[in-house]
Amino acid sequence: MTGRQEPAGGPQGGQDAPERAHQDFSRSLSYGDYLRLDQLKAAHQPITDAHDEHLFIAVHHVSEVWLDLIVRELRAAMSLLEAGITDAPLKMLTRVVRAQEQLTNAWEVLKTMTPADYLQFRHAFGQASGFQSAGYRMVEFLLGNRQDVMLRPHAHRPDLHGPLQEALSGPSVYDLALRLLHARGLLPAGALERDLTRKPVLNEEVLAAWLTVYRDTETYWDLYELAEKLLDVEDNFRRWRFNHLTTVERTIGFKAGSGGTSGAGYLRQALSTVLFPELWEVRTRL
Ligand code: HEM
Repeated sequence: MTGRQEPAGGPQGGQDAPERAHQDFSRSLSYGDYLRLDQLKAAHQPITDAHDEHLFIAVHHVSEVWLDLIVRELRAAMSLLEAGITDAPLKMLTRVVRAQEQLTNAWEVLKTMTPADYLQFRHAFGQASGFQSAGYRMVEFLLGNRQDVMLRPHAHRPDLHGPLQEALSGPSVYDLALRLLHARGLLPAGALERDLTRKPVLNEEVLAAWLTVYRDTETYWDLYELAEKLLDVEDNFRRWRFNHLTTVERTIGFKAGSGGTSGAGYLRQALSTVLFPELWEVRTRL
């Protein structure tokens, strides 16, 4: 028994007919089995009857899946950079950039929800907030935006807290790029020593190294390309943040956030975050 039915004849039974596709999955892995769609859909559990809660949950779920992919790609790029490889990580960072675009596009769907729609289910999720997204925090930590206070919401979950704690005190993707500058003789070792648990602040020696790269792109083409790719990532991160803020303002105005921050005020302040300070400053100094 192959599960393949013989075409009945005629144009619908030809080589391209759907009847020729595999049809018996009683003993082999189907699409839904492989992707564990039952489990995926089982996670979609609105707790009110509000129509828009489905949208709200779906957009969060989809965003978390993209964040998870971004973490994997960043980690893979980082282990290659650590080994001194500069070309292959570009592919992974490009994938990060494309996934960020998907994340940013998700606001377009969510914006179809009005404040009145949102209020129909807002009471149901209490203090839950994206602020507690371990996936998002991991992306921030890997990119270098670090504050140990951000670990606290995960204290009750060692499985989430452990990897976040580790990422907080390990090198960021930018730190690894700076190690490459050092390996090429462009940056003194002292410039690499900084408190890894905090976000980077502009360092004149690092800036001077990037200036050398940007002034002689032919010699340092791979480092220049890497720098521009990192800038793409930060550029897209800014767009996500800005669109989140706008969506929040049009949905809850200036009410406090469910996570306990001031809400739009907190998110507006986060817009001033700079991940790779010298890569922005190099433009001014060139
Ligand atoms: C209408 C929908 C949304 C509203 C009203 C909203 C509101 C907020 C507010 C007010 C905050 C500040 C923290 C707090 O809660 O006090 C926040 C943080 C956050 N939200 Fe949303 N949000 C929405 C949708 C989303 C979606 C779809 C995601 C996707 C994952 C998301 C991810 C986050 C993240 C990661 C943070 C932390 C940002 C940071 O710490 O810099 N939010 N949100």
